[in-house]
Amino acid sequence: MLSKILVDSYKVWFDNYINQFRGRYPDLIENIDIKADHCKKVCSEIVALAQNMNLSDEEVLLAETIGLFHDIGRFRQYVKYQTFSDSKSQNHAELGVEVLKENNVLKDLSVENQEIIFNSILNHSTAKIPSEKNERIIFFSKLIRDADKLDIWRLITEYYMVKEQKSVDSTGGENKTLELELPDNDQISEAVLESLLNKQIVLKESMKTLNDFKLLQIGWIFDLNFDYSIKRLYEKKYLNKIFETLPNNNRINKIRDIVNNYFQEHIKILTYK
Ligand SMILES: [Fe+2]
Repeated sequence: MLSKILVDSYKVWFDNYINQFRGRYPDLIENIDIKADHCKKVCSEIVALAQNMNLSDEEVLLAETIGLFHDIGRFRQYVKYQTFSDSKSQNHAELGVEVLKENNVLKDLSVENQEIIFNSILNHSTAKIPSEKNERIIFFSKLIRDADKLDIWRLITEYYMVKEQKSVDSTGGENKTLELELPDNDQISEAVLESLLNKQIVLKESMKTLNDFKLLQIGWIFDLNFDYSIKRLYEKKYLNKIFETLPNNNRINKIRDIVNNYFQEHIKILTYK
């Protein structure tokens, strides 16, 4: 049975696990801390989302556990390869499941709950949720995908704002790892624009520049699973903040219109519900 006490023990395990990396790799501490903070904030996002859906207490705890562990593979990935790019290293979701299994972290849970956690972690970063018969796996995968995106938007908009300010002050402020080492030039790839004009998510393979990555992050709106998430994204204005850092031209403005219309359509539905 998944209890609050058990989830609290997972949080202690998480902190101990992170502290090993912080102790061993002091030069890498900045990005280790950014990812650890992200994991904890995803917990808050997923709990708020789960509570909004009136799930049982145990289901909320299950969602929280998935939130806490969804990126546990990031730390091994980062210290080994010094990148967060899966294509340049290894799939961080698979690494995460490997870490949890190696350390037997979930040993007190039922096989069913373990399967939900492992599969939701594996499904959190794929372009689409792979076909799956178990509806609970699909549901929890949707929850973590939305909660994860909401906190990445928080993280990157904070980062882009600081970077912009520091470039004005000429004090640096770049974190190439968060930019997946992509070149920060004026280029935008055709395939990326094309996907967004069709209200489709952008595939990672088509990204060539930082602008492409920003547009990929904007396109996540089309992949949100729950009205609550769209409303939260709208209220937090994350996408406006990303648009502010993109070149001001007709093509970007067209995408901005598409995004605004998408919000309006959904917010209208939410208001009349
Ligand atoms: Fe992730």
